[in-house]
Amino acid sequence: MNILLLGSGGREHALAWKIADSVLLTKLWCAPGNAGIARVAECVSLDVADHAAVIAFCKANKIDLVVVGPEAPLAAGIVDDLAAAGIKAFGPSQAAARLESSKGFTKDLCRDNNIPTAAYERFSDAAAAKAYIAANGAPIVIKADGLAAGKGVVVAMTVEDANAAVDMIFEGGFGAAGAQVVIEEFMRGEEASFFALCDGEHALALATAQDHKRAFDGDKGPNTGGMGAYSPAPVMTDEMCRRTMDEIIFPTLRAMRARGAPFKGVLFAGLMITDDGPKLIEYNVRFGDPECQVLMLRMMGDIVPALFAACDGQLNHFSLRWFPDPALTVVMAAKGYPGDYAKGTPIEGLDEAAKVEDVEIFQAGTKEEGGRILANGGRVLNVCASGKTVAEAQARAYEAVDRIIWPDGFCRRDIGFQAVERESGV
Ligand code: AMP
Ligand code: GLY
Repeated sequence: MNILLLGSGGREHALAWKIADSVLLTKLWCAPGNAGIARVAECVSLDVADHAAVIAFCKANKIDLVVVGPEAPLAAGIVDDLAAAGIKAFGPSQAAARLESSKGFTKDLCRDNNIPTAAYERFSDAAAAKAYIAANGAPIVIKADGLAAGKGVVVAMTVEDANAAVDMIFEGGFGAAGAQVVIEEFMRGEEASFFALCDGEHALALATAQDHKRAFDGDKGPNTGGMGAYSPAPVMTDEMCRRTMDEIIFPTLRAMRARGAPFKGVLFAGLMITDDGPKLIEYNVRFGDPECQVLMLRMMGDIVPALFAACDGQLNHFSLRWFPDPALTVVMAAKGYPGDYAKGTPIEGLDEAAKVEDVEIFQAGTKEEGGRILANGGRVLNVCASGKTVAEAQARAYEAVDRIIWPDGFCRRDIGFQAVERESGV
């Protein structure tokens, strides 16, 4: 099989590493890729937004499967355009990707199908939004409707903050994503990420994870794309996973089929585990980053047949096995991230770090120049480890982090702290 992977982050390095391990693989390409991906795939400088160029590459190189990592090409309809050209692609159609690209669409789908989620209303003018806030009080959650790179959400603890968020979004604070605002009930509980592989009709639960969205230790500082994660999520007991499939994932798949937009690919449910059980916070239509990195470490079987089964509607004949040991990843980011940061700073010690037992390092924003690895983005490295316990995985990951010489980078020192506290019975 010839496979083309689209993307350039740590998620794609982890996917490339796992795909490269497949007995079915003939050759793996990645566009555009990064310095780490270049070790397991041939990187090509294709413009992923230029669908005609991607199609031409696939035809010239007899690509059997395109695997789409990030959400932007999915929302732009790359899977539809590839399918129209007769090329198989893993990921949802543009219509099915609306589960991520429009929060309002997803909220309406939940309401129409009794899928548990926060109560909400949609608004396109500030006065009506503020009247709703006045009637419901705080805490309350304000969201821009469209794609905002995970940053379009304000959890307002006071009515004043909620009103200010409404003004900020309608004044363009989140760009075009904020033409509509969704206001929802504040849910209390513990968050978890749940991943299901879907083929339009059937779904296979993958694994669970928890991530750390805030930039600094103790879950402080601004929201980021994710500073670390671990799998499994202790709060996701077998019973909670079963309820999530029955109450959230399967009803969503049935509803998408009924709308003529069957969902294929990875459905990533951001959940709040409340006293009443799992409730949907939001959907993403792809693997999480950095959650994917820990999922790939824990996946025992070959990923490639699973990707084909999802494309071909054959998941009902499929199962995947997982290593029971937990895995954890620490994200190393350029100083200043998620704000302004410098590019081009040198990173050393990666080979020494990778020698720590059960450690795997996935690269995100990196490039190679003259044999040196340079930082080339905000989130730059994912230092991943597995262990018998989360505490052991955490110790291994930080041992590797401490071997990396990158004065211009930083990471959180407390990834996994809740799970470690749980393990030690605190
Ligand atoms: P989202 O981008 O929708 O995942 O939201 C980002 C973060 O905001 C989530 O991970 C939650 O921590 C928080 N959040 C979003 N919606 C709610 C809600 N209805 N209740 C409580 N917290 C929320
Ligand atoms: N880590 C969260 C995301 O990928 O959206």
